[in-house]
Amino acid sequence: QTDNGQLSIDADRLIIATNRGPVEYFKTKEGQVKSRRGSGGVVTALTSTVSKVNSTWVALAMTDADREALKAAQDGIMPSPIKDIDVRLRYVTVPKTMYRKHYDMVSNRVLWFTQHYLLEQAADIIPFKQLQDIWNNGYYRVNKAIADAVNAEIASQDSKALVMLHDYHLYLVSGMIREQHPSVAMQQFIHIPWPEHRYWASSLPTDITGDIFRGLLGNDILGFQTRGDAHNFLDGVRAFIEDAEVSFDERHVTFHGHQTHVRDYPISISVSDELRLVNSNAGKRAAENIKPLLNKYNLMRVDRIEPTKNIVQGFLAYETLLEQHPELHGQTTFLAFLIPSRQSLPLYREYHDETMKAIEQINQKYGNKDWEPIHTFVQNDRTTALAALQFYDVLLVNSLIDGMNLVAKEGAAVNRNDGVLVLSRSSGAFQQLENASIAISPAGRNETAEALYKALTLPKEERHELAERAHHEVETDNLRTWMTQQINDINDLLKSRD
Ligand code: G6P
Repeated sequence: QTDNGQLSIDADRLIIATNRGPVEYFKTKEGQVKSRRGSGGVVTALTSTVSKVNSTWVALAMTDADREALKAAQDGIMPSPIKDIDVRLRYVTVPKTMYRKHYDMVSNRVLWFTQHYLLEQAADIIPFKQLQDIWNNGYYRVNKAIADAVNAEIASQDSKALVMLHDYHLYLVSGMIREQHPSVAMQQFIHIPWPEHRYWASSLPTDITGDIFRGLLGNDILGFQTRGDAHNFLDGVRAFIEDAEVSFDERHVTFHGHQTHVRDYPISISVSDELRLVNSNAGKRAAENIKPLLNKYNLMRVDRIEPTKNIVQGFLAYETLLEQHPELHGQTTFLAFLIPSRQSLPLYREYHDETMKAIEQINQKYGNKDWEPIHTFVQNDRTTALAALQFYDVLLVNSLIDGMNLVAKEGAAVNRNDGVLVLSRSSGAFQQLENASIAISPAGRNETAEALYKALTLPKEERHELAERAHHEVETDNLRTWMTQQINDINDLLKSRD
C-alpha cells in the first residue's frame, strides 16, 4: 500500500488549529525574518493530504520572529510562504505573559506531566492560587483567542466548514466554538496519553478537570492514540460530568443534546517521505558525516530532551551494559541525537543539564583517547538524525510513558541494517510494534541493560525477522492510514448532516 496521494474531505472549508503552526519564522544574524517548515508529523500529515480543500491554519505566534512576520499581515492572515504548504496562515498574537502562562505553565508543565503520570513534576505548580491564575489568565484566554480566530474564519465564509483541532494546548476551544456555531463539524486529536479518572482527580482540582472534559465535548469526534486512552476519556466523563450520558458500547458521549464520538487512531509516519529525505542530497551528505563515527556495534536514540523520554535512565542502562560486558569496550558507540525542547522552562533545562552530566560521566569513566562511548548531537536536525537511523544495530526507545513515539516507527522505516528496536512497553507505539521489538519496562535499569545486550547479540535470522516485521508494520499502518480513518469518520459525519 502506498502512502502517497490526496484524500478528500467532503467539506468546502477546512480550518486547522494547533499551538505550533506549520511555518516557523526565524531571524537571521543580519536581522532578516525568514521562514521554514514547522517540525513534526502533523504538519506533514495535514498538508500532504488535505491540500485540495480551501484551508486556513490557525496557530499561536510563538516567537518574536513570528510576531514580526505578522506585522506585515492583514488581521493576522498571511499566505503560506512555503510552496507545498497550501494553506492560509492565521497566526494569533497574545501578550507574552499570557502566552507563558498558557504554554510553559499550564500546557507543558501541568498538563504535559499530569498526562504523562509524572505528578511530582506537575505538582510544584499546584499551589492553588497560582494554578487558578495560570488557568484563568493564561490557558483560558489563549484558548479563547484561538476559538475567536476560528469563529471568525467560519463566519467569514458562507460554506460547509470542518474544524480540526490538535492536542493538549487547546482543550477548551471546541466548547467555545460550539457555542457560536452549533452545527459546524469539529474533530480533535489528542497526541498524548489520557490518564484514568483517578489520576486526574489526584492531580488537579475538580473544577479544572471538569473544564477540560466539558471543553472537549464540543467536538463531534475526539481521537486518541490508543483504545486505552479513548476508554479513559469515556470513563472520565462518567466520573466528572454529571449531566453527560456515556455509551461505552457505542463509544460516544451525549452532553446537552450534542454527541461526541470517541475513537482511537494510532498516528504513524510516511515511509515514502522519510525515505525521500534520507535519499535526498542533504540526506546523503548527512549519512557521509555519520559513517566515520560508526563502530562495530552502534546503539542510537533520537529524542526531545525532556523527562518523559527517560534519557538519563537509558544512559545508565548503557553504563550497566559496559560494566557487565568489558568485551564491548571500544567496540560499541551510542549515538544520541538530542533535541533541545521547551528551554524556557527551568524543569526542562534542569533535565537537559542532568542528561549532559550523565553522558559526560560515562564518557569519562569508560572512554579513552580512542573511544568515546556516547557521541552526542544536541541539535534539531531531522535530516542528520534520520540519515543516521539507517545504520543502527540497536535503537533504544525507553520513554516512561509516551502517547505514541514516532522515532520507533521512523527507525523501522529507514534502517537498512536489520537493526533491533528495544521498546518501552508503556509507549503507544508498543501496541503496533510489540512483535517487532524487544520489550522493556523503562523503569528497570538492569532489564534495559539486558535487553540492549540481547539486541546487540541476537542471531542474524532473528534480527532480520524482527526488522522485517517492524518495516512491514509501518508500511501498512502509515500516516495515510491514520488520516484516512479519520477522514472516513468525518465524511460519514458530514454526510449525516446533509
Ligand atoms: C509533542 C506534542 C506536540 C508538540 C511537540 C513538540 O509531540 O504532542 O503537540 O508540538 O511535542 O513540542 P513543542 O512544545 O516544541 O511544540
